[in-house]
Amino acid sequence: MPPSPETYDWEIRRERSEDAPAIAALNEAGFGPGRYAKSAYRLREGVTAANDLGRVAVENGILRGSVRFWPVKAGKDDVLLLGPLAVDGAERGRGIGISLMQAGIEAARAAGWRAILLVGDAPYYGRVGFVKMPPGRLQFPGPVDINRLLGLALVEGALETLSGPIRRARIDETPCADGAPLG
Ligand SMILES: CC(C)(COP(=O)(O)OP(=O)(O)OC[C@H]1O[C@@H](n2cnc3c(N)ncnc32)[C@H](O)[C@@H]1OP(=O)(O)O)[C@@H](O)C(=O)NCCC(=O)NCCS
Repeated sequence: MPPSPETYDWEIRRERSEDAPAIAALNEAGFGPGRYAKSAYRLREGVTAANDLGRVAVENGILRGSVRFWPVKAGKDDVLLLGPLAVDGAERGRGIGISLMQAGIEAARAAGWRAILLVGDAPYYGRVGFVKMPPGRLQFPGPVDINRLLGLALVEGALETLSGPIRRARIDETPCADGAPLG
């Protein structure tokens, strides 16, 4: 059953540097320490998250969920990688995950990004418009289930032109373990 309107008490706002410990705790609870072994983390290693795009859900001063985006190269193109997305285990199913993504996606579009990629479950991310990438065009660094490589065009046709290896966008000097934006 969908949540009743009075349960929508959380607000989505931009991530701030002081949110980092609460976000790290959410990601730890949602994904565990094994997250660092995931292929997507190879793309985040040594790189800070895309400035201004991280969003958090806050309710009564408590952080309920977080989404971050990373700049990556897909062939010659600069695109975003969505993730991690994590919602407090006790607060799932209230629409927080979808709202976080919608807010981040709109911010990315407004900032001029052309496309977003992620590795995840198509039935869930399809709710905000992600589609499966055609096999063979993009190569992910490390093992991923190709059915889980999804994309969202922020400008028309942006996914059709993507091809080549997905790589780190750059190396930053002082990121933290989860790549939180600094300052
Ligand atoms: C995945 C996650 C972010 C969803 O957050 P959420 O706030 O509960 O999501 P929403 O409330 O916006 O959406 C819930 C709906 O999506 C569905 N859903 C959640 N995860 C899903 C999945 N992996 N595949 C398909 N549907 C999924 C729920 O069944 C629910 O459906 P309903 O609306 O028909 O009841 C949250 O479960 C989480 O933090 N999980 C642990 C970390 C994780 O797996 N992150 C995603 C990595 S791929």
